[in-house]
Amino acid sequence: MSRRPMMAGNWKMNNTYGEAVVLAQEISNRYEPRWSDRMDVVVCPPYIDLKPVSTVLEFDKSHIAVGAQNVYWEASGAYTGEISVPMLKEVGCTYCIVGHSERRGLFGETNEDVNRKVKALIGGGISPIICVGESLAVREEGTTDEFVCAQVKAAFAGLADHQAAKCVVAYEPIWAIGTGRTATPEQAEAVCAAIRATVAEMFGDQVAENMRVLYGGSMNPGNVEGLMAQPNIDGGLIGGAALKADSFEQLVKACF
Ligand code: PGA
Repeated sequence: MSRRPMMAGNWKMNNTYGEAVVLAQEISNRYEPRWSDRMDVVVCPPYIDLKPVSTVLEFDKSHIAVGAQNVYWEASGAYTGEISVPMLKEVGCTYCIVGHSERRGLFGETNEDVNRKVKALIGGGISPIICVGESLAVREEGTTDEFVCAQVKAAFAGLADHQAAKCVVAYEPIWAIGTGRTATPEQAEAVCAAIRATVAEMFGDQVAENMRVLYGGSMNPGNVEGLMAQPNIDGGLIGGAALKADSFEQLVKACF
């Protein structure tokens, strides 16, 4: 596979400042140069843990990237409680998760919001990790591909090819997130292939061929190999299994 694999840990709303430093240090202690030679390893802690986590990794010279879990599209101003792209950039973020199903479902984030965030991130030099995925009801209705590809189209709307090329897509079926119920490798592969085909329709074969499409939803050391063996799955966006350095390391190593 010519695409560089990626393992990204989404810590969600876990780890206080002190706990985040400990976990970052434990992951950093396991870092080997081949990780960054052959793949991208990313950790996405809560906003206030971004700086301490990036400080630990920089101090150790561990080439593990730091990403945020959300962002607001305006650069500054009267937006109480929000965080902007320049703020993320200054604390060392090179990636940012956008459109996670928890943000869409619990905080009312729309496809249009996701598109604005993607544009702001690309404009500021941070790579978006765009999350898409269907509910159980959509899957049972048999309209998964249509639903997910519509999310992809909305997230990428109005981008030029070279801007789209900066993005990563994460396919995360909502029914598999935090439930222990993983999509089978075949189910995940089918949707990831449909996502790539949608990107090809919008931006051409070259952008689609180079784009990383990750799977997320109860990925763990026990099921990672079957998922990573699929031709259209280039890595994982990991929740629960990214909160322990041991299991995160195993997931990283499954990419070699
Ligand atoms: P999970 O979460 O691995 O705990 O299912 C994945 C995600 O929501 O990004």
